[in-house]
Amino acid sequence: MPRKLAAGNWKMNGLEQDVSVIKTLAERHAQAGIDVLICPPATMISACAGHGIAVGGQDCHAAVSGAHTGDISAEMLADAGATHVITGHSERRADHGETDADIAAKSQAAYRAGLKAVICIGETLGQREAGTTLEIIDGQLAGSVPDDATAENTVIAYEPVWAIGTGKVPTLEQIGEVHAHIRQSLVARFGDGAGFTLLYGGSVKGSNAAEIFAVAEVNGALVGGASLTADDFSPIVTALEQA
Ligand code: 13P
Repeated sequence: MPRKLAAGNWKMNGLEQDVSVIKTLAERHAQAGIDVLICPPATMISACAGHGIAVGGQDCHAAVSGAHTGDISAEMLADAGATHVITGHSERRADHGETDADIAAKSQAAYRAGLKAVICIGETLGQREAGTTLEIIDGQLAGSVPDDATAENTVIAYEPVWAIGTGKVPTLEQIGEVHAHIRQSLVARFGDGAGFTLLYGGSVKGSNAAEIFAVAEVNGALVGGASLTADDFSPIVTALEQA
């Protein structure tokens, strides 16, 4: 059975004072029977680690070290206390031109450093309207997920680009169709494909979490805006515990 994971991606939000959010989440959920992860900005990783909630990076460089001004390696994230790293978020693909090959290399860097990679995939609105969603998903899975991915070192997050930060959520049927397709593809490619945790991401909130978690092959969520405060994120964690 895949492990359940409630993950928050703070994106470029969070200052030292916001460590209090992690502490509150730990008080409420450290004993939860599911995994709870927050990916704060890299500047906060060491301050957020060690409180009982898993902490992850939002990106990493593929190399261990070197002349890459402004970049952070997977080893550095691990050194700061991270256990996970998001790779291939659509904002990185769009803002920084990251390709599937870049994302596979970054995911391999995560494995090398002992981090779990949360690999993001998802179609744009134009691709959905053109009816190519599943083809896009297949291409991203083939290109971004390394051959040495396992259920232990990789989580797949399906985040339709048009649902991120927009308040627009796909229908439960649309989420179910893509998740079933991802599961099939992982089972066909990897011996332990049935065990990978599959997250849905895009405008998840306390008010819609339970119905999304009831969809087959949805094992948790990757949450942006609603992970920034403990009061917004807690109901999502609780909904996943109860799913
Ligand atoms: P929102 O939950 O703000 O839509 O963001 C989703 C996301 O991009 C998480 O990585």
